[in-house]
This record gives sequence, structure tokens and C-alpha cells, in this order.
Amino acid sequence: MAKAKQPVVGIIMGSDSDLKIMQAAADILKDFEVPYEITIVSAHRTPMRMVDYASSATGRGLKIIIAGAGGAAHLPGMIASLTTLPVIGVPIKSSNSIDGWDSLLSILQMPNGVPVATVALNAAKNAGILAAEILGISDKNVSKKLVAYKKQMKEEVEKKAKAVEAKGGS
Ligand code: RP5
Repeated sequence: MAKAKQPVVGIIMGSDSDLKIMQAAADILKDFEVPYEITIVSAHRTPMRMVDYASSATGRGLKIIIAGAGGAAHLPGMIASLTTLPVIGVPIKSSNSIDGWDSLLSILQMPNGVPVATVALNAAKNAGILAAEILGISDKNVSKKLVAYKKQMKEEVEKKAKAVEAKGGS
């Protein structure tokens, strides 16, 4: 049996209710053949698990952490405070989020010295792509997959443009 590859991206989220959003990060990393792990780590409900996760991440071979949370979304920032790995934050419009701004600003407005690369609201797919782009700097296979992905995206838009033009906007 082939040995499972060592995860290089850690995907974490504050609650299982975040999974419906965070799954998109896992799906795109799978497409790019980037090995990842995925689990729940809550800054408020399991603070010691959060400390353990972040402080063991480098030693376990992770290179990037994607952290999603909603409402009082402290997980990405607290993870960033505990590791020197790049942290990508995904603000989630969760059940306890007023309108999404609370999640977004909790993750975005980090103090100097502790950055979190924050993607758009619910944009877990972009978090996965950004993680792949960071890895692609030193991993040719991932970089090739990203080039192919951009090419496919461009072709899809061109196809749609032709269809709109043919219809003449009616
Ligand atoms: C946050 O609270 C989680 O990240 C989630 O987005 C939100 C709601 O959690 P549940 O009450 O659904 O478990 O910590």
C-alpha cells in the first residue's frame, strides 16, 4: 500500500458548522495534489488544543495553516501568535455572525508583528489556492498545476464571453 504523504497544509476551523465552507479549501488542495490535514480547533472552547496544534505544527512538517472561524473569530490570529508559519484566515458568516463583518474584521485587523493573510468572506477556495501558490514557489509540481488552473479559468471565461457576444446581450 502506498504511504500517505505528509501533510504540508493544516486546515483548521472553530466548529464543525464551519466545514460546509472550509471543505472548499480541502477540495482545491486535493485538485493540486497538495497533502493536507483537516480538523477542528476552537480558540474559545479548546484553547489548549489550539496551543498544542500551533506549537507542534512546524515540527509535524506543516508549512502553511489555513484557519477559518466566524463571529468573534479569534482562531486565525491566535494561531498566528503561536507559530512562524504563514497563516491564511478565512472569515466565515456563521450562525453567531451578525453580518460577516464581525468575522472579517476579527481576522483582518491584526496588530503589527502578527500578520494573518485574510481572504474574502467564506472564501475558503481562495485560501487553498493561496496556500498552493506559496508552496508553488519551491514546488514545481504544484506550480505547474497552478499554471494549468489559470489557463483553464481563462478558457472558461473566453467561452462565456463568446456566448454572451453571440447572444448580443438579449
Ligand atoms: C466560531 O463560532 C466557529 O468558528 C463558528 O464559525 C462559530 C459558531 O460555532 P457553532 O456554535 O456553530 O459551533 O467559534
